[in-house]
This record gives sequence, structure tokens and C-alpha cells, in this order.
Amino acid sequence: MSTLPAAPDLPALVAAARAVRGNARAPWSRFQVGAAVRASSGRVYVGVNVESASYPLTCCAERVAIYNAVTAGETAITHVAVVTAARAAPCGGCRQVIYELGAESEVLIAGLDGAWETTSIRALLPHGFDGSALP
Ligand code: THU
Repeated sequence: MSTLPAAPDLPALVAAARAVRGNARAPWSRFQVGAAVRASSGRVYVGVNVESASYPLTCCAERVAIYNAVTAGETAITHVAVVTAARAAPCGGCRQVIYELGAESEVLIAGLDGAWETTSIRALLPHGFDGSALP
């Protein structure tokens, strides 16, 4: 008998992103971001932005969370929650990575008060490149 993952607990996903946001390493921008992704297994992985003094080496919270999921053996994601003081949407680079790992992902964009709006990665990244054209 196969066990399906439980229905997604969206408030818990946003809470997980919010809980780690304070661990962000953002000494230059002072813009702290917390992210949580739900993998297709139902497990949740978190990430924060990690800035480098060599600015382009900075990694966004969403990608840290996704890379944590991949490191744990996950191959697909279904939900991404991102928490910032500005209720900001994921950057373009993160949209690409979210799309590749889960083209049907729901994206939850939250502020510090815990309220969020829901959109989809297809809405945020229309006509996304999924690598299927690559040899
Ligand atoms: N940042 C993220 O973590 N995620 C995004 O989607 C947008 C930007 C981070 C990168 C940098 O540390 C700071 O926010 C300002 O750009």
C-alpha cells in the first residue's frame, strides 16, 4: 500500500519560512529573506539568503531551500513560501529554479504579519524554459 503525502499545511509552510528568516546573513542589504519549500514527498525544507562580501556570490533564500531539498534526495517541489518585510516576490533567477523543480508549484508570498498571497510559478514565469530543448 502506498502512502500519499498529507494535504499541504500552508500556514505551517509560511511559519517555517518566517521562523528561519532571522538566520539570514544579510550584512550588506539588511534585507532578510526566509523561504520554505514543500517537496513532492511532503517534507519541508528551509533556507535563508546568504550574502557574500563578493556580492555576486550571494545566494537567495529560495534557492538555498531548494538546494537543501535536492541535497536530501528530493527531485520535485510543489510549494514555495517566501517571507520578507516587503512581501516581495521571488527574483527572476529563483523563478527559473522553482520552475525547473516544480512547474506546477504554488508560490506563497508573505509578510512579517504572516499574511500571504498565493500565486503560481506559471504566473510568475510565463513560457518558462524547462531544459527539455537541451540535447
Ligand atoms: N533575495 C532573496 O533571498 N530572494 C529573492 O527572491 C530576492 C532577493 C536576497 C538576495 C540578497 O541577499 C537580498 O535579498 C537583497 O537582494
